[in-house]
Amino acid sequence: MHGFSYKNGSLFCEDIELSTLASEYGTPLYVYSAATILDHYRRLDAALNGVDHEVAYAVKANSNLSVLRLLANEGAGFDIVSGGELFRVIKAGGDPAHCTFAGVGKTKEEIVYALEQGIYSFNVESAEELTYLNEVAAELGVIAPAAVRVNPNVDAQTHKYISTGKSENKFGVDFEAIAGLYDHAASHLPNVRMRGLQMHIGSQLTSISPFIEAVEKVAPLAASLKAKHGIEFWSIGGGIGIIYKESLESGSLDWWENQPEVERPLTIERYGKEIVPRLKDLGLKILVEPGRFIVGNAGVLLTRCLYEKKGSAKTFKIVDAGMNDLIRPALYEGHHEIVPLKQPTSDVRKPVDVVGPICESGDFFCQNRELPDIQPGDTIALMSAGAYGFAMASNYNTRPLPAEVLVEGSTSTVIRKRQTLEDVIAGEL
Ligand code: LLP
Repeated sequence: MHGFSYKNGSLFCEDIELSTLASEYGTPLYVYSAATILDHYRRLDAALNGVDHEVAYAVKANSNLSVLRLLANEGAGFDIVSGGELFRVIKAGGDPAHCTFAGVGKTKEEIVYALEQGIYSFNVESAEELTYLNEVAAELGVIAPAAVRVNPNVDAQTHKYISTGKSENKFGVDFEAIAGLYDHAASHLPNVRMRGLQMHIGSQLTSISPFIEAVEKVAPLAASLKAKHGIEFWSIGGGIGIIYKESLESGSLDWWENQPEVERPLTIERYGKEIVPRLKDLGLKILVEPGRFIVGNAGVLLTRCLYEKKGSAKTFKIVDAGMNDLIRPALYEGHHEIVPLKQPTSDVRKPVDVVGPICESGDFFCQNRELPDIQPGDTIALMSAGAYGFAMASNYNTRPLPAEVLVEGSTSTVIRKRQTLEDVIAGEL
């Protein structure tokens, strides 16, 4: 499901009319549906039922404390990539003992902080990092729990900036080198305990086949590491893709589940059905690290049209959100559906570019897209903006970060205040 639909000609998030939120809190405004976040978490949890597992939400996708708290209360674990994300998880009431720490460039301060907090595992990305982890743990007189990230050299068939499981990517350790590294750790690194194995092949995967290929390739390695080194868990990473196109209808998992097989390359039930049988005989705890799947279709970015500019070649709709608020179109050619809050009464569509106020040609939300009439003063929703939306926002062009609102039924809560200009310059001399 997702919580966004037209009712009586007006776009709602759960039981709240989005235009009310736009007038009350201003634009640009991120709005999230709590029910959608919970539904996605629960569906994935249920799909993995046949195997001992934990859903470790990838905090980077959306790290607002209230979103983390919602998931912590459901019993989620967390996949973090910085000391800052660990700090957020703890502030939100999450348990460090259910946190895995990924990333190729952990600093000493971050390692010390995570050791002090007692995280579940460091997901280590190189032999050098494992040696360093051993050194830092020895200085503190503790044993660091660790897993090495295996790079299975599988093509995730996704955008090149978010593909991570090929040998040419900076992530993980070559498949062929893993066994030797665990042997080395056992004999030479007394302050690390090899607790698991990790992999992640990329993000926004819309086909099941790369997941199957990676799991089948790595499962024998996981089994032999369990037999030889007693590892307890295997994290198979995140990456489950979501529907961006026609997401008002098809971003709803219910709609998607009802489509014929050929039109549903990857559903969560299918993911579970294909993956669980390939894992269950290993006797390992299976972790998954979804970010986008949990929050992507649970959020929208509301923005108001300021001007219509008719050029000789194109018509531009200039809106008050920019690439600093939502960078996905500029960075990954990401597609976000654009939906007026007032339901269009006519089927007429005209090709337009929806662009922001930033001084960059890359500052667009769509180009030459057939959209219903949008007039200055109208508010539109950029759909599927719950993941990697606010989390990647910046103050570029000295624009204050937008506010975020969480909707739960008929209640809305500001879960992050809009920044003021004083907030933006705080800390500068
Ligand atoms: N685990 C690891 C080790 C990761 O690097 C990532 C994402 C995830 C899990 C979660 O992946 P997800 O389930 O969300 O696909 N900013 C980009 C996506 C970057 C993904 C980075 N790593 C975007 O907006 O498309």
